[in-house]
Amino acid sequence: MKAQTHRSVLFGAVFLALLVAAIAAAVHAQQGKVVSSYGPTNQDVTFEQIKAARLAVKTERAKAHAELLNARYNLDIKADPAITMSGGKPVPVGPTAKLAGVTWEQLDKMTPEQIKDRGFFPYKPLPFPDHAEGGMLFPEMTLKLLPRLTRFDLDFDLPEQVLPDAVPAIYLTTRPDLGDVAKGRLVTINNFYEIFNGLLNPKQLEGLRLLVTQFPQQQFNATEDRRTDRPDGMLGVTCFDCHVNGHTNDATHLVGDIRPQEFRHRIDTPSLRGVNIQRLFGSQRALKTVEDFTEFEQRAAYFDGDICMAAKKGVNVLERGSQVHFMTEFLSLLDFPPAPKLNIYGELDTAQATRGELRGEALFNGKAQCAKCHAAPYYTDNTMHNLMAERFYKQEMQNGMMMAADGPIKTFPLRGIKDSPPYLHDGRCRTLEDTVEYFNLIQQLHLAAAEKKDLAAFLRAL
Ligand code: HEC
Ligand code: HEC
Repeated sequence: MKAQTHRSVLFGAVFLALLVAAIAAAVHAQQGKVVSSYGPTNQDVTFEQIKAARLAVKTERAKAHAELLNARYNLDIKADPAITMSGGKPVPVGPTAKLAGVTWEQLDKMTPEQIKDRGFFPYKPLPFPDHAEGGMLFPEMTLKLLPRLTRFDLDFDLPEQVLPDAVPAIYLTTRPDLGDVAKGRLVTINNFYEIFNGLLNPKQLEGLRLLVTQFPQQQFNATEDRRTDRPDGMLGVTCFDCHVNGHTNDATHLVGDIRPQEFRHRIDTPSLRGVNIQRLFGSQRALKTVEDFTEFEQRAAYFDGDICMAAKKGVNVLERGSQVHFMTEFLSLLDFPPAPKLNIYGELDTAQATRGELRGEALFNGKAQCAKCHAAPYYTDNTMHNLMAERFYKQEMQNGMMMAADGPIKTFPLRGIKDSPPYLHDGRCRTLEDTVEYFNLIQQLHLAAAEKKDLAAFLRAL
């Protein structure tokens, strides 16, 4: 009797549970696809099927993105061979933004509302080449050196003229007498020891080894949803695949912090030169130390902030005392490139600077108010600002990305800035001239053409 009651209670409970599940499924079906913060951890499709699905949309998405870029930017990019990055590449000269039936002078006279209403703002957020897809994506110049980073489903989108040196110089805070210690060599697991043994202490050398060692991440690993064909690609990426020689190759990614997908920012790899003098890390994440960022980058950013994916794909958890600290001890030696025209205050040396550069400096500190946020000697205030660029454009979808407000962003330092085009967190400004046009609008400065030229000349001297 007792057993029977138990059984009927049990049956009742099971029945109820099934009923609840059925109702939930019906509601689910009615609402359509549920948007989740998590990726599908259990794949019921094969690598070949995933690859075929990605290849099926590759051409069409690339075309849509190329159309967006062509509508926004001029394709012929000028460069002044006399002005080069530290590694010798000519610095691109702009502005490169295409204006739709309006001149810079006319734009300057319009209010933010008028620019927004007429859709004239040339520097809207830049979508990722396939924004719905995302992931780490490397420029062609890097793939030539490191073919294991090739994705079968996506090609990099920006022209090489607006990217940094393919193999940037390395300057060490501890050995300024040496100049560029890389001397045109790409530092990898194959040569780091011979280049740096004798220059670094064993702890820093071990840190550097970890910075050039591959660890699994979202697209480069052994699971069926990887985006690489190459077995060595499956082993993962290294920190210096993006922060090449401690600087940047402009490899791009979608920021891990934001959901849903269409609101995630495209982010271009920042330089790690000068992390020693900075106090906030990440465009928005605002981690407080390089140690935290190094640890977090591999644990979460490598996997789009999805801790379940990280566990599945083989996250390499760095040990704080014997690995993270070693890595950041090396990173903290990476100096800004030499700026021979700056004095000990980080200001222009009047004996060396040109008249135009000096006029640019006066504007930077005065009328243009750049120094309010970019303070000498490194031209950062080590905080974040909300520039409210959304005053100038409507919130609407473009190629899978919502043209939404950026929110507060870190004030990236301007020391050595000519070495790291394109500019802003997503690379929407391709040249320093474009950044001057951007801030001229954002701050409503109404600068004359000659003043804009002087400001750009000053930025190149930093
Ligand atoms: C996909 C290429 C890529 C790889 C690989 C990569 N990073 Fe980054 N790194 C980025 C991007 C993009 C950002 C900007 C993140 C943001 O804005 O939130 C960044 C930011 C940083 C920052 C903060 C810089 C700043 O100025 O705020 C540090 C420090 C850093 N990375 C260190 C590392 C370390 C250490 C590794 C290896 C564990 C690594 N990164 C691997 C692309 C990469
Ligand atoms: C209110 C603070 C503020 C003022 C004023 C300001 N900036 Fe900035 N600047 C920022 C922030 C924040 C960023 C990062 C924005 C982003 O990445 O979206 C930035 C980014 C930049 C960059 C790109 C840095 C990089 O690494 O990509 C350049 C160049 C620059 N500013 C130049 C200027 C100039 C020139 C002026 C004056 C005409 C100026 N800024 C005025 C806060 C400011």
